[in-house]
Amino acid sequence: MAHELNRHTFDAVMVPNYAPGAVIPVRGEGSHIWDQDGRSYIDFAGGIAVNSLGHCHPELVKVLTDQANKLWHLSNVWTNEPALKLAQQLCQMTFADKVYFANSGAEANEAALKLARRYSVDKYSADKHQIIAFDNAFHGRTFFTVSVGGQPKYSEGFGPVPEGISHLPFNDIQALEKAISHHTCAVIMEPIQGEAGILPADPDFIRRARELCNQYNALLIFDEIQTGVGRTGELYAYMRTGVKPDILTTAKALGGGFPIGAMLCTDEVAQAMAVGTHGSTYGGNPLGCRVASRVLELVNDRDLLDGVRERHLMFMDGLDELNDRYHLFSDIRGQGLLIGCQLCDQWQGQARNLLVQAQDAGVMVLIAGPDVLRLAPSLIIPPDDIHTGLERLGQAMVQFLHTRTEEA
Ligand SMILES: Cc1ncc(COP(=O)(O)O)c(C=O)c1O
Repeated sequence: MAHELNRHTFDAVMVPNYAPGAVIPVRGEGSHIWDQDGRSYIDFAGGIAVNSLGHCHPELVKVLTDQANKLWHLSNVWTNEPALKLAQQLCQMTFADKVYFANSGAEANEAALKLARRYSVDKYSADKHQIIAFDNAFHGRTFFTVSVGGQPKYSEGFGPVPEGISHLPFNDIQALEKAISHHTCAVIMEPIQGEAGILPADPDFIRRARELCNQYNALLIFDEIQTGVGRTGELYAYMRTGVKPDILTTAKALGGGFPIGAMLCTDEVAQAMAVGTHGSTYGGNPLGCRVASRVLELVNDRDLLDGVRERHLMFMDGLDELNDRYHLFSDIRGQGLLIGCQLCDQWQGQARNLLVQAQDAGVMVLIAGPDVLRLAPSLIIPPDDIHTGLERLGQAMVQFLHTRTEEA
């Protein structure tokens, strides 16, 4: 059926920075999505680790519509009750004493990086501004965050990048020991590198980074934009490590699909963000905060978090079984419901082709770079949907092998 608005409309009127899939989803419920033609898909992508409670969770729809009938927006000239409540929850549930609200992950990181520099420059000296980050890291798409991110393809071609940023090999304790100094203001890392291919930080590396930051009065920033809000089976991944950061950024799953981001920090660090140092018109918007507040109430529940760990095992068993049959992956890794399947050498660069086959078979998946298939479904995806989705992924793997063999 021809639709008035279709994939060609995208090419006609939208900036070509994305290459969206051929189908246009129009409705979602739980872990199911329907496209314009009424075809249904199982959602293993979760809006890139965003739809933490699936699509249109009734509790979230309820608070969103309730808030929509009360108060949408004020700016930060006034505060609002949903923002205050959400900040209180985040402080009670984590290491943090203070919260800054943003609208996205990149904005939360922008705030974190600016704060780290401002704190160090104010407290120590103007030349304490080195930021240490890691190869292949991803921290967002603003100019500061692509510069700190460890994937040059995102920062090249835009002219001079900000100075004072060093990139080190991830999980390399010796490189970190060598590079950190009294000029370092912050070390920023993802507890599991998401966009890089679901690569976990070693526990020893995290612990040593904390020690070194203490030794050199540098701040430790955990970017938990992908790992946060229950994704790993804990509210935040740092809670599994025994190491607390000074600053943590969270977004994506925080709003369950409603755009919101936040930067969490200690009271001492927060003081450097004095009136006028930073801000955002929409940050702390009542609609987003009200939804996020309910997301946190629902996700920060031991049964739900244990359910994430149980679902992890279901996925791992199912994926291992598929791999025993089709031998596409050399490694299947991850925590909770953030899972990466590394394609074997023979299939390097083919992750997108597998994603397209999966979509054709009726299951939405993600990739993380050219060689890794990534799954980040709803934290409450029903087991039946896991099984159906994996069955469809199996069909996609057969089709993938079939087309690749024909091409060869
Ligand atoms: C670890 C990490 N940091 C930052 C971001 C950027 O978040 P946003 O796209 O909401 O700006 C992402 C998004 O993928 C991410 O995975």
